This record gives sequence, C-alpha cells and structure tokens, in this order.
Amino acid sequence: MNKVYITRWIPESAIKILKERCSVRVNKENRQLKKKEIIDSIQDVDAILSLLTDTIDKEVIDSAKNLKIIANYAAGYDNIDIKEATKRGIIVTNTPGVLTETTADLAWALLFAAARRVVEGDKFIRKKKFQGWKPTLLLGYDIYGKVLGVIGTGQIGTAFALRAKGFNMRVLYNDSKRNYIIEKRLKAKKVGLRFLLTNSDYVSLHVPLNTKTYHLIGKKEIGYMKRTAILINTSRGQVLHEKALVDALTKKAISGAGLDVFEKEPSISKKLLNLDNVVLTPHIGSASYETREKMAIIAVKSIIDVLNGKVTKNPVNKVSKTKRKSRIVH
Ligand code: GLV
Ligand code: GLV
Repeated sequence: MNKVYITRWIPESAIKILKERCSVRVNKENRQLKKKEIIDSIQDVDAILSLLTDTIDKEVIDSAKNLKIIANYAAGYDNIDIKEATKRGIIVTNTPGVLTETTADLAWALLFAAARRVVEGDKFIRKKKFQGWKPTLLLGYDIYGKVLGVIGTGQIGTAFALRAKGFNMRVLYNDSKRNYIIEKRLKAKKVGLRFLLTNSDYVSLHVPLNTKTYHLIGKKEIGYMKRTAILINTSRGQVLHEKALVDALTKKAISGAGLDVFEKEPSISKKLLNLDNVVLTPHIGSASYETREKMAIIAVKSIIDVLNGKVTKNPVNKVSKTKRKSRIVH
C-alpha cells in the first residue's frame, strides 16, 4: 500500500478518500512542523501533502527516497524547490481554480475595510469613543467610479478585476500577457507598471512570488502612487518591500493599505502593528469552509492519480515519462 504523509490536518472528507486507498499518516500536532520533523516523517512515503508554510527544499526532497508526488495545499508553490523535485522525477501539484473567487473576495474585503476605515471604526466603538454622528468622523475614500490598478491578472487577478464592474471603476492592469477577458468585459487597459501606480486610486497585487516579482513593489514604486491611494496585497509578502510600505504609511505618502500576507510571516514588524492606516489579516485569502474543503479534495485526487500512474490535473512541473517511471517502479 502506498504511504502518504499529510503535514497538517486538512478537512476530514479528503483524508477519508485517501485512507480508502493508501496508508495515511497525519501530523497530529496542531502546529507547523519544523524541517527536521518533516524529514523524519517522510523517509518511507510515496506522497506528501504539504502546506505553503512547509519548506520543501533539496534536503527534504532527498530524505524521501520513494517520493513521487508533492501535493501542495495552495495555489502558490514558492515553498517548494521545483527544480530539485523535477530532477528527481517527482511531480509537484497545486490547488488552483477553486480558491480564485474566495481570494478575490478577500482582496475586496481588505479594499473596502481600508478605504472606509471599517476596522478603525470597530475599534473606536469598542473603546467607547462613539458619542454620536459627527461631520468629520472617520472619513475615508470613495470606491465607486474610481481607478482600480490590478498587478498580475492570472486567475485571481482576473476574478478580482471583474468584481469592479458593480462599482463602475476604470480598470488598469499590468501583466506580461494581454487579458482579453477583462479587456472585453471591463474595457480594462493594459499599461506599464509606473503608469498603473501613478494613475490608480486602488492598487492590488496578484502575482505569484518568483525571482522576477520579489520586491516588485518597493520604495520607488510606492513613490509613484497617489497620496490618496490604497495598496492591497493578498499574493505573497515578499512581492512587496514591507519596510518601504511602512515608511510610506508612516509619512502618509499613501493613504492606506490592506495586507493578508507579510514578508516574514507569521512575524509582523512592530511598526506595521502600530499603524492605524493599514488593515491586517493573517493569510486567510482562501479561508472559506467551501474552498478549503475543495482544495483538500483536489490535493488528494492529485496524489491518487499520480500513485496510480495517471495524468494529474494540476501539475506545476513537467516530469518526463521515463523519469516518472523510474520513480514508480522502484
Ligand atoms: C495561498 O496563499 C495559496 O497560495 O493558496
Ligand atoms: C491562481 O490560481 C492564479 O492564477 O492567480
């Protein structure tokens, strides 16, 4: 029977499907495992179901001699050394698609909250400061009719942009590829990064993290933004130079931000915590009951497919048949 290791509890229905076919072990600690613990747990496994918080590097990959698939429970897979996995004939899969709309929803939740100061308002009331309606109490910025800048228009960026229709926004986007869906449905314009940053009232990041997007938005780029603009990040923390953002928010060089991801998460800079003009959520982009369940089923199906020598739907690397075979028949 094939052996599978799951690095943290995922919805039970998915674990059940796997247990009908494989011998499954699940990390029982309700915490992220250390690298050494992962290594110790995967020596004899054929498959790993990993989280985006697990570092799956060369050393980890090498410790599992029978490994055929790493199924990452996320859309992003920057936590895995894809090159090393590919070299060894190991297929890496992710769970795109099902979390697209859920993550787009959260990006809008942050945008609304930052623009209309929802979290500040909540804190204000709980501190018993509300003494009645006031003409200048917690003024924010309009959303309707404004300019929305979307950086990265893959599945999530596209879903995020499409929601702007109800708010009659002008949409600018930056991506290496033309996006005919949002061009057609929103009359969105493909523009250069500087133009987008200079002209948008709201800027939202939807690029994957890689060597090209690391610190894509830094001091210079934030410097192009309007003083009244708001920056939203639901992609990966390292896409944004966090210190440059903190400086800009402190000096009120931009008006606000909404962040679901952080450069060194789960550790958050103290300066960021002390700012009122930023809304913070703990990497919950895909965190809906429905989506987390779907992600789990997809990851599990990928494992079953690969262990049965079938083509899997969500590979992020290309493994040649001969390489795959040498892993499967060992
Ligand atoms: C979440 O950040 C994901 O990549 O799924
Ligand atoms: C995620 O699925 C994306 O392509 O943005």
